[in-house]
Amino acid sequence: MKSIKKTLVIGLGLIGGSLALALRKAGLGGTIIGCDRDQSEVELAIKIGMIDQGSTRAEDWIAEADLIVVSVPVIAMESVMTQLKPLLRNDTIITDVGSSKGSVQTSAVKVWGRLPANFILGHPIAGSEKSGVSAALVDLYQKHKVILTPTQDNNRQAVSIVTQMWRSTGADVLTMDIARHDEVLAATSHLPHMLAFSLVDTLASQDESLEIFRYAAGGFRDFTRIAASDPVMWRDIYIANKPAVLQALTEFEQGLSRLRTAIEESDSDAMLGIFTRAKAAREHFSRILENSAYIPMQNKLINYRTAPGNALSGRIRVPGDKSISHRSIMLGSLAEGVTQVKGFLEGEDSLATLQAFRDMGVVIEGPHQGEVTIHGVGLNGLKKPAGALYLGNSGTSMRLLSGLLAGQAFDVELTGDASLTKRPMERVAKPLREMGAVVETAEGGRPPLVIRGGQALKGIDYQMPMASAQVKSCVLLAGLYAEGETKTTEPAPTRDHTERMLTGFGYEVTRKGATASLQGGGKLVAGNIDVPSDISSAAFFMVAGSIADRSEILIEHVGMNPTRVGIVNILRAMGADITLENESEVGGEPVADVRVRSADLKGIDIPQDQVPLAIDEFPVLFVAAACAEGVTRLRGAEELRVKESDRIQVMADGLQALGIQCTVYEDGIDIVGINAVQGGKMSGGRVHSHDDHRIAMSFAVASLCSEGEIFIEDCANVATSFPGFVELANKIGMKINVEEA
Ligand code: S3P
Repeated sequence: MKSIKKTLVIGLGLIGGSLALALRKAGLGGTIIGCDRDQSEVELAIKIGMIDQGSTRAEDWIAEADLIVVSVPVIAMESVMTQLKPLLRNDTIITDVGSSKGSVQTSAVKVWGRLPANFILGHPIAGSEKSGVSAALVDLYQKHKVILTPTQDNNRQAVSIVTQMWRSTGADVLTMDIARHDEVLAATSHLPHMLAFSLVDTLASQDESLEIFRYAAGGFRDFTRIAASDPVMWRDIYIANKPAVLQALTEFEQGLSRLRTAIEESDSDAMLGIFTRAKAAREHFSRILENSAYIPMQNKLINYRTAPGNALSGRIRVPGDKSISHRSIMLGSLAEGVTQVKGFLEGEDSLATLQAFRDMGVVIEGPHQGEVTIHGVGLNGLKKPAGALYLGNSGTSMRLLSGLLAGQAFDVELTGDASLTKRPMERVAKPLREMGAVVETAEGGRPPLVIRGGQALKGIDYQMPMASAQVKSCVLLAGLYAEGETKTTEPAPTRDHTERMLTGFGYEVTRKGATASLQGGGKLVAGNIDVPSDISSAAFFMVAGSIADRSEILIEHVGMNPTRVGIVNILRAMGADITLENESEVGGEPVADVRVRSADLKGIDIPQDQVPLAIDEFPVLFVAAACAEGVTRLRGAEELRVKESDRIQVMADGLQALGIQCTVYEDGIDIVGINAVQGGKMSGGRVHSHDDHRIAMSFAVASLCSEGEIFIEDCANVATSFPGFVELANKIGMKINVEEA
């Protein structure tokens, strides 16, 4: 903004005045000149140092201004533009702050014949119910959004200067097209103001003495705060943005009438549906406001700083199993009747699945302390979601959902975060297409996926090219909607939670060796689900308890499904002291308490048949290998390269940074252990999680055998599978500090 020597702000209300204050504070915009129709406002602005100079006559300053901010009500825009036109220099940049953009563009076209190239339309999303110079606030725009609606004909440099101007006030600048801006604002600002004004007016006119307001509590106050806003300004806004406002009102009236009908008919499910969806959406909105995702802190950059470890002791319970939590929501939603889930993992991944089903019209109460109540809609009861289903970081959500969505009557798009967008989806798209589904992927078979509804699926006999429970589950879930029999045969055993839970929900699944099959066209009957603790989360503490000196810990109620116990088998083969206690079966899944004591670990050649049974546990197993005596060799594990990160390379890089020798192979790794028992230590150092929760947690465990601190970058992702990891780890004696970057 160096070229801006003089800035003229026309209109010293809350918006223009606050901008002038913020520009002065930032030392930008050169001399700030302020004009207002009201002489006393100009005088006050000069007196409090809001502006350098000013008057009631904007026309006196126009020719000398390098930047003009038109900060008058939208209804007055045209007359200000008429005043600007004859006096304006060619190189002066203009912007406005009007809360509807289509009408400002129309006014400009009336005055100039087109929107001038240097006129950048803008709208700061900030305000208060107060107005005038005395209401202005220097930090009004801090962390607020400012929307610019540049057009193709706008001068790029002018766009850049207006962007810099707003950024200097602390605002977050984004761009949108004009029509979209007006729709969004009609829905999120103009409609709620209209409702607040109308509600207060309706109540006030029923009770002339305003006596009724004596009884109104916080809810009324919160809902109606904005009814104290400037009436003239709002009248102008409704005139300026009439079409978009009326459209938003029509949609609201339809929603309100659905709620009215639900109340009239005492339709409890319909009411709960509206309220739980709204509550989830409101909570999502609060988290956006806090700049975080499903769980606090997710969007912040978090690092772990770990101190070399101690003896560990204590009794802990890790969160619910991620794979079972996903499936509980999916099958519970598609079942007939109400499913109660206990022990649900309230991590980002399973919450993404939960949200997806809410978006498809399923009423889901909770989660509240791991309890979720799902009002099943039956296999054919899902509704088309209003937009794309956003699945965050969760590969399981995307792959399993694509199977069951292939059988729906509607089209749907599945999207995810940057990491998920890199993961291969052709492995599910291919068998689904063989079944008759229409699945479109982005380049290279990556997300987003578009699944076209209304296809008649037929059963297939699928010989899976890779050992993947997600692919198997995807095909079986599509099989629920297919004609005839759907069969999958896996090259090695993979987790079988889908088969178990389908059976638990009364759906017949035939299992013979590596083959699972089912007939389409049946139904699922709701049942209760008790989710055991996740063995994949317990794995971090199994390794921690083994490698830390003089340690003994007990991990309660861990899922011990035989397709998941590779971690226990491999650690025992390395010499770990792990015993299972209180073995029982809960809801079709074996569980046990796991006791872990320090042990002398030895390097081994990891048996191939254990690889799919420990697929998620290798990052932390590599840490065990690094502490062991001798070399540990892993082969046949190429699947690790397509997890949340390339887990072979990323772990090798991190271990090498800590002084561990390893050799990477396409399908595995050799790791030379430091023989921790004989006093061998890793060095401290700096490692990166590569946006992968299990990498972050594995290096935190490594600190138990390091001689210096390990600094682990980018650990917010731990929330995807293990909320509360740090608290639990520190409770038994680890030393992890969470630092916000
Ligand atoms: C999962 C299967 C595994 C695993 C993932 C969860 C599941 O993936 O890595 O964390 O719940 O089905 P693959 O099927 O790709 O091996």
